[in-house]
Amino acid sequence: MSMCKTPAELEKMRRSGLAVHRILQAVAAGVQPGASTWDLETLAEAAIRREQAVSAFRGYRGYPCVLCASVNDEIVHGIPSRKKLLREGDVVSLDCGVLLDGYYGDSALTVPVGDPARLPPPVQRLLAATRSALAAGIESARVGNFLGDISFAVQRKVEEEGFSVVREFVGHGIGTHLHEEPQVPNYGQPGAGRRLREGMVLCIEPMVNQGSAQVRLLDDGWTAVTADGACSAHFEHTVAITRDGPWVLSQA
Ligand code: MF3
Ligand code: CO
Repeated sequence: MSMCKTPAELEKMRRSGLAVHRILQAVAAGVQPGASTWDLETLAEAAIRREQAVSAFRGYRGYPCVLCASVNDEIVHGIPSRKKLLREGDVVSLDCGVLLDGYYGDSALTVPVGDPARLPPPVQRLLAATRSALAAGIESARVGNFLGDISFAVQRKVEEEGFSVVREFVGHGIGTHLHEEPQVPNYGQPGAGRRLREGMVLCIEPMVNQGSAQVRLLDDGWTAVTADGACSAHFEHTVAITRDGPWVLSQA
């Protein structure tokens, strides 16, 4: 099966991407001290319904929720919980995927809880570095480049800033399935891997640790946390490779 989408398919994927964008904005607006990650799940569920979309996550390999909400040392796949309360100075990664009109969209961002100025400066730098690593990856998502160019651009930015790339989880192709070929690692060599073609749609999603890259899985079987307990950040966009350059489908 070809990994390349037609222009008509890209228009549909744009609608899924924009839906995910608006859903995440609605969830991010509910991030405040005292809220639980279950409150965020409730906001996500309502927003998905408003978009007349279907969750891509709930039921995926048995995942129980529509949102992943990963706080501080949680890297990805945090399961929303009524017992998990957000506090000023925390950061929370919000990851959401939907299915709309046969096509998937998937995006994530990491936001401060409360006043951003009250985040510890190293955590502010972690968020900025992860955001710019995603931007560098997107900038490399061009016809004629190689998959490894994206991976390398992400890794270089992360390591330049003194942080570490998580290797256990990777980005992915996306389309009529949430996860399609190819895998998109956040580390690699320029010029390596397959060539990027017009119509490919990739989820680029750096997961970046403040300290060591080592990961531990919690007993819930889902939540991935840093082995050293330090903070982690995650940003993700659904990106189409077009003749005119990268098209970030999950961005307004
Ligand atoms: N954005 C993540 C991914 O693309 C989220 C998957 S969570 C799951 O893999 F619940 F769907 F597994
Ligand atoms: Co993804």
